[in-house]
Amino acid sequence: MAFLISGGKPLYGTVRAQGAKNAALPMLFASLLCDAPVTLYGVPNIGDVRVALSMLEALGVKISSETDGALTLDTKEATPPDFALKGGEKIRASAYLLGASVSRFGEVRIKHPGGCAFGVRPLDYHRAGFQALGISWNEDERGISVRREDGRGAQFSLPYPSVGATVNFILAALGVKGESTLFGCAREHHVLDFISFLQKMGAKIHTEGELLRVEGGKRLSGGSYTVTPDAVEAGTYLIAAAATGGTVTVERVRYGELSPLLLAFGKMNIPFRFLGDSVTVYRPSRMLGTSVIAAPYPGFPTDLHPQMSVLLTRAEGGGSVSDLVWEERFSYVHALERMGFSAYLSPHTVRVFPCALRGSEVKAPDLRGGAALITAALIAEGKSTVTGEELVLRGYEMLPEKLFSLGADIRVE
Ligand code: UD1
Repeated sequence: MAFLISGGKPLYGTVRAQGAKNAALPMLFASLLCDAPVTLYGVPNIGDVRVALSMLEALGVKISSETDGALTLDTKEATPPDFALKGGEKIRASAYLLGASVSRFGEVRIKHPGGCAFGVRPLDYHRAGFQALGISWNEDERGISVRREDGRGAQFSLPYPSVGATVNFILAALGVKGESTLFGCAREHHVLDFISFLQKMGAKIHTEGELLRVEGGKRLSGGSYTVTPDAVEAGTYLIAAAATGGTVTVERVRYGELSPLLLAFGKMNIPFRFLGDSVTVYRPSRMLGTSVIAAPYPGFPTDLHPQMSVLLTRAEGGGSVSDLVWEERFSYVHALERMGFSAYLSPHTVRVFPCALRGSEVKAPDLRGGAALITAALIAEGKSTVTGEELVLRGYEMLPEKLFSLGADIRVE
């Protein structure tokens, strides 16, 4: 299966942002900590979510979906995961099964988590956080085993505001008695949304800047919650709109996590209007170049880095994108070069020169790299084939349908 795209058509219209992938996934695993059923609204129907749900189902979680899009998880009869559990090797978020399951069952074994391949993706901060909480951590070729030994509230400082390690520390701290404190936590909007969800389920979590306090040792209640909008998905459509020179409104967004992108648009002379919970991007008379640095929030989101590189091909003087989160997140550059992308790649940074792209056959190297190739195909002259469709649909709900509704010439074959 591949996306077949004829480029050169400006996008016009309105799309609605899906629920945030990186908020929904930890919520699904955290349902294991809840005594009563959890109903989530706005869980995106994407590949990673389907894998997470199949893993939970295999553990005995009862999952039902309603016509209004609500998803209810009843974890009463869930059993602890073991190495035999399939799916974890496909998604990064399976690492959250460690924190959630050790809190629920005291012991857990999972295959090594998968996810996008941008170099080594260590879990050493997760491990150190668990060990501080009195949870043992062992790894071998089969996967990772963790066990609550003398679990107790503890203080831990993250050397880097890792999203994954912050989420996993919270999950594990909820299962040990006493108060735990995490210094240097991630502040991404989707992390804060995950914390709001836990608070709604009765967790006592206090946040203050990069400080987190978690009161552990109590099971959570059930309840309902609506997942925050996905700023990365919304940003991808806004970038595609600007790149094609169209006018697109994305509904159901929140300003917070979009702010670094909108600040960049401001510098690039790309007009936009933020009204209520929707944002509209208009065709600029002149698009100016800029430089962005992907870094933890409030830095530019690393998940919009590849798409931004494509947009810069349209800007006067081009620009540059540096990534301080994932230094090996540049494999999309080689695929783009087949389309006439003109750039200079040095460690952590791609310098993009203005250039006209041409249709070609390219393969998505990872989820956001694939989104960048699709953006490139939308502005390229001629026809493109983007393979690796399943990688892109891991994170984007109804992507071809949404682009088609905006006037793109796209089909899946
Ligand atoms: C990161 C992004 C997240 C994005 C995701 C997928 C940030 C802060 N996080 O989240 O927004 O959705 O990638 O693109 O922008 N690290 C370690 N040891 C660890 C954990 C992390 O060295 O135990 C390092 C990683 O190698 C990486 C950095 O910390 O360089 C960020 O990792 P982390 O935030 O944990 O990654 P994700 O949770 O996957």
